[in-house]
Amino acid sequence: MCGIFGCILKRGRAAPLIHAALKRLEYRGYDSVGEATLRDQQLFIKKDAGKIDAVHAIRNLDDLPGRIGVGHTRWATHGAPLQINAHPQSGCSDPPRIAVVHNGIIENFAELKKELEDRGHRFKSKTDTETIAHLIEENLKKRQTEPSEDVYSGFRSAVAGAVDRLVGSYAVAAVCTQEPDKIVCARNESPLVLGIADDAYYFASDIPAFLPLTNKVVYVENGELVTLSKKGFEITKLVDGSTVVRTPKLVDWTPRMAEKQGYPHFMLKEIHEQPRCLRDTLRLQEKYLELLTTFLDRAREVIMVACGTSYHACLAASYMFSKLSFLATHPVIASEFTEQHGKSVNIDSTILAVSQSGETADTLAAVETARQRAATILGLTNGVGSTLTRVSRVYIGQQSGPEIGVAATKTFTSQLSVLSQLAIRLGKKRGKISQEEIDLLDEKIEEIPDIVEKIVETQSKKVQSLAKKHRSKECFFFLGRGISYATALEGRLKLMEIAYMPSIAFPAGESKHGPISLVEPGFPVIFVCPPDETRRTLIGNIMEMKARGASVIAVCEEGDDEIMQLADDYIEITKGIPEVLSPIPYVVPLQLFAYHMALERGCDPDMPRNLAKSVTVK
Ligand code: F6R
Repeated sequence: MCGIFGCILKRGRAAPLIHAALKRLEYRGYDSVGEATLRDQQLFIKKDAGKIDAVHAIRNLDDLPGRIGVGHTRWATHGAPLQINAHPQSGCSDPPRIAVVHNGIIENFAELKKELEDRGHRFKSKTDTETIAHLIEENLKKRQTEPSEDVYSGFRSAVAGAVDRLVGSYAVAAVCTQEPDKIVCARNESPLVLGIADDAYYFASDIPAFLPLTNKVVYVENGELVTLSKKGFEITKLVDGSTVVRTPKLVDWTPRMAEKQGYPHFMLKEIHEQPRCLRDTLRLQEKYLELLTTFLDRAREVIMVACGTSYHACLAASYMFSKLSFLATHPVIASEFTEQHGKSVNIDSTILAVSQSGETADTLAAVETARQRAATILGLTNGVGSTLTRVSRVYIGQQSGPEIGVAATKTFTSQLSVLSQLAIRLGKKRGKISQEEIDLLDEKIEEIPDIVEKIVETQSKKVQSLAKKHRSKECFFFLGRGISYATALEGRLKLMEIAYMPSIAFPAGESKHGPISLVEPGFPVIFVCPPDETRRTLIGNIMEMKARGASVIAVCEEGDDEIMQLADDYIEITKGIPEVLSPIPYVVPLQLFAYHMALERGCDPDMPRNLAKSVTVK
């Protein structure tokens, strides 16, 4: 996730305005920043790695000349946070003639890059975005020499032709010295809005970018091309060039509300962002997934290290690897790693470190212990450019964008999605699962984002009423069997950390070995019950709890009448989800439950007491 902004002003200079707007978009990404402005058919670009204030202090982002410009605040996906990878990106010409800013992921950039390199283009960065600049450059060149039947002409036609070649998600904007009075933007899946003022036109990823300047907003839809000029804005459909007439809407958000896109809390916004983040995990670079799979395949032993929510993702992954690829992995809480494995880890060990931030001290300390004993380090993180990426032999960036709520939500489901993709690949590589099973898993993993979207849409009200009903309880149990034990642990952590509700999670089979002694009439027990092989036994566990008067809440498959009749309350999850993918949708109602319980109990879900988003001390 990155933030893009641009403007065409009738008076004044664009640069300071772009700088201020990027500051307001910093919550979308903050590892690099850049601006490009146009004056007298000349392009002026400043960009660097670092937070906006730090880059401004060194480079002064305000002194670029001109009334037209574009800007970008980056959350690295392709390529580390380095100056060369910061946006705007340009083509081959020197001085640059094109500047492009982009939010999204171009899935087919490697093929396009190869094709363009074969035509003589030279790439400077590791970004997918640079491909767009070269495509536009190539199109401009072609359109000068070859007659075109395009509905668009000139620069517009070059941008339309470029985005036509893209597979993936993008909100992209480009400027060009050849037609210095225009900004051309296009959208597919990544957000893009226009701001309309009397003396200026803006485009941005999000409304807060221009909210202090105007509250007149035009929403750009997927498949649309926008041309901004001093005369106004023109929206056309990319597919046939037909004009779209759309009148601006007035928004009455405060800047803070706008940052949260109208949601009362970042946590709720991030829960709602999960479908999009999950889609992005399906666009990860093939070569890194393949490389990681190869390392895992060759490993003598695989130890997964992580803390908190990331540890729960590892625990779920240990079931995935075992079931799909017959690979035994050991999930270990990072702060215990040195004690538990410090002496046994060796050159034949492979460590898969999972950390949203990539900066968690306990995880990095475990990695360091393993590194000193020559183990191979693999990483999965949301922090490209983080310490974990630097100490890993190979890493994958999960591409969830910044998570601002302290409780991990969207980053957890994205971790699960990446880990399940690795387990499926490994199963395939090792010949442990049939083609039929692979096809089904591939098909279902594509459906998961829509399923999560449906759960959030249809179950939120019910979850909210459950939170009302149980707000005064003193303790909760979260129970599951098999892979759902990891889901139960995560549901319990969410409730404990943001609603301050003492909670216990354990494998449902453990009840009678101790914890059931806590149960008395009305005691709330949440069961995670996807219809997998453990379902029959789990029903026995539900009955044990019911027999002691527990108040049972089941998260179960829609239409599972037997469980629905046993439970006092239930949340329904779409049918037909394979067991190994079940933690992704089944955890969503538990995230929502924790969120609503926090509100019911007067707690701030975004900033729970005593906790920090990134724990950089041991
Ligand atoms: C819980 C939560 C924490 C983190 C843990 C590890 O909602 O956010 O438990 O999961 O501190 O953080 P990362 O993944 O950044 O290493």
